[in-house]
Amino acid sequence: MEIHRRMRPIINIERIPAPFTSIYEKACRLVIKQYYSLLAEEIVSEFREGKMLDLGTGPGYLPIEIAKRAPFVTAVGVDLSLPFIRMARHNALKAGLAHRLKFEVGDAAKLRFENELFDMIISSGMLHMLKDPLEMLKECRRVLKPGGEARIYDPARVSSQVDKRRWKDSFTVLERYTYLLLTFYSRINPPRVYTRRELASMIEFACFNNYEIKGDSGEWRIRLEK
Ligand SMILES: C[S@@+](CC[C@H](N)C(=O)[O-])C[C@H]1O[C@@H](n2cnc3c(N)ncnc32)[C@H](O)[C@@H]1O
Repeated sequence: MEIHRRMRPIINIERIPAPFTSIYEKACRLVIKQYYSLLAEEIVSEFREGKMLDLGTGPGYLPIEIAKRAPFVTAVGVDLSLPFIRMARHNALKAGLAHRLKFEVGDAAKLRFENELFDMIISSGMLHMLKDPLEMLKECRRVLKPGGEARIYDPARVSSQVDKRRWKDSFTVLERYTYLLLTFYSRINPPRVYTRRELASMIEFACFNNYEIKGDSGEWRIRLEK
């Protein structure tokens, strides 16, 4: 079971580097209605209360949209990038949800949490960036309560849904240069693309026996039950 290792690119930077976080956050903000709200509705239709963990939370918009709709949900968002964690804290504060949403720097493949702490794990747009997706899946299993569920959506439909013109119009002069750099960066650090078989193999290796993989490589929608 070395599939995920075979697919590692030569250059592999997991986190979104600091210079790109502000333009990524601007793209996210433009798709709150089309993407995060819809996903939040879907999640909240089945998960209304309990402890949630969001892996690779970025600016925190998904847990924020969930918390707006589910008053009995508390969540922790984890990300490797400190600038994103700062943005997520600020966004939660602005939404009046800081008492239920905590954000911290951390690695999804090496979580600091005790076993069986969370009722639900969510993650959008992180899987394709991971050096070691199998370790992340094992960590999901470890920190989920028995009967808990993980939902992984990847890649996030942010870039495909964003109005590119509006997005670029919102850039500062510095961000225009950053965007050019981002294009180059994406070429040398391409996202990993998984087949359904590769995903199933990793999921089974992480000892999830009940799972469902929907969608396609445009967006995988994975549901894991412990
Ligand atoms: C494309 S962004 C998605 C952010 C957010 N979930 C969203 O849907 O807007 C992927 C995020 O995963 C984070 N990330 C990548 N590898 C990670 C890891 N091993 N542990 C935690 N976060 C990670 C990146 O820093 C980045 O913020």
